[in-house]
Amino acid sequence: MTFENLLVTGGCGFIGSNFIRFLLDREDFTGRIVNFDKLTYAGNPDNLAGVAERYHGRYVFEHGDVCDAGRLEDLFGRYGIDGVCHFAAESHVDRSIRRPESFIHTNILGTFQLLERAKARGSAFRLFHHVSTDEVYGSLGATGLFTEEMPYRPNSPYSASKAASDHLVRAYSETFGLPATISNCSNNYGPYQFPEKLIPLMVLNGLEGKALPVYGDGRNVRDWLYVEDHCEAIWLIMRKGRRGETYNIGGNAEMENIAIVRLICALLDELAPVEGGESRERLITYVADRPGHDRRYAIDFSKLAGELGWRPRQSFAEGLRRTVAWYLANQPWIEGIRTGAYRSWIEEHYGKEA
Ligand code: NAD
Ligand code: DAU
Repeated sequence: MTFENLLVTGGCGFIGSNFIRFLLDREDFTGRIVNFDKLTYAGNPDNLAGVAERYHGRYVFEHGDVCDAGRLEDLFGRYGIDGVCHFAAESHVDRSIRRPESFIHTNILGTFQLLERAKARGSAFRLFHHVSTDEVYGSLGATGLFTEEMPYRPNSPYSASKAASDHLVRAYSETFGLPATISNCSNNYGPYQFPEKLIPLMVLNGLEGKALPVYGDGRNVRDWLYVEDHCEAIWLIMRKGRRGETYNIGGNAEMENIAIVRLICALLDELAPVEGGESRERLITYVADRPGHDRRYAIDFSKLAGELGWRPRQSFAEGLRRTVAWYLANQPWIEGIRTGAYRSWIEEHYGKEA
């Protein structure tokens, strides 16, 4: 299956922008991408610099909010949307603890509005793919893996809002026969990730000689997946996954947070040594734990591997090296965020509300 007019929501964010670049380069996708994004603090047009020019006619940007039913109705009709890959979300757990409201709006109501528009397209609509998270399953003890059959036990406002959106997608598939798939993925890393998340935050703070804040005892475990591997898995599920099904995606790369921070220090010390040769490890600072901090995530992706033959290609050691090297080589992108220049550009083009 392929798509003529694919709506990608949240395409200016971290994974969405990687997905758009990935897809436009593939021979098995010849259609057009309509990127619909509200350009929140996490939406950065620099993530897609040059894409509109390079893929002229096959890529369109539309600014707007997935909660805006009228705007969605116009988009679906005007572009003849036949597929959706839904990334748009508030995605940061710490922010959801401080101010949960936008998570409820965007992640739950936004998904609902998109489902309604997709349903209204009737037989012209081919697939709604919902990009979700392993955090819906809650937290694991020292052993075990998340499988697709596990009960949902979200622990943060973020994961609760994603769980609600998963349930809505499932309900539209069961009740209305909407062709839909869901993927629940582990922690992504790679180019263009906003520096509020663990890996880019540590890289940028390390470069600036700032403290590297490690929550609690630093021994919480996440399973890390290189973003390109995630994009490949999503596209495979969209083309060949069974409709109405959920697929877990993981990296086979369980790591304690403190081990990652130490690896980043070592990579920075090697690739961008400080004068005098001191190690960045001296910057590691243990800080108060995140409330409700999930202890361990680990993914069983045997369903995706068995049915569709997917496996992560990138090892964590190599992926992390590539990622650190990317941030070092892309100082203008970092500067755009550090100085707020990317926000000024957005305000100039779309107003202060954007
Ligand atoms: P991100 O925060 O980097 O990007 C989110 C994008 O959505 C931004 O471009 C933002 O402007 C846009 N957006 C936010 N609210 C919007 C709205 N109301 N209308 C339209 N656009 C809006 O997020 P990410 O890390 O790229 O994550 C993308 C998706 O993948 C999310 O649904 C997230 O839950 C899921 N996910 C992320 C990870 C991860 O490790 N980052 C892992 C598994 C699943
Ligand atoms: O598991 C998938 C999820 O991974 C996605 O659904 C989320 O969108 C994504 O943000 C991510 O959630 P986490 O909370 O796991 O990611 P984060 O990078 O915020 O934190 C990773 C771990 O590092 C977590 O145990 C908290 C810890 N941490 C994080 C930050 C930002 C620190 O110790 N210090 C920090 O400064």
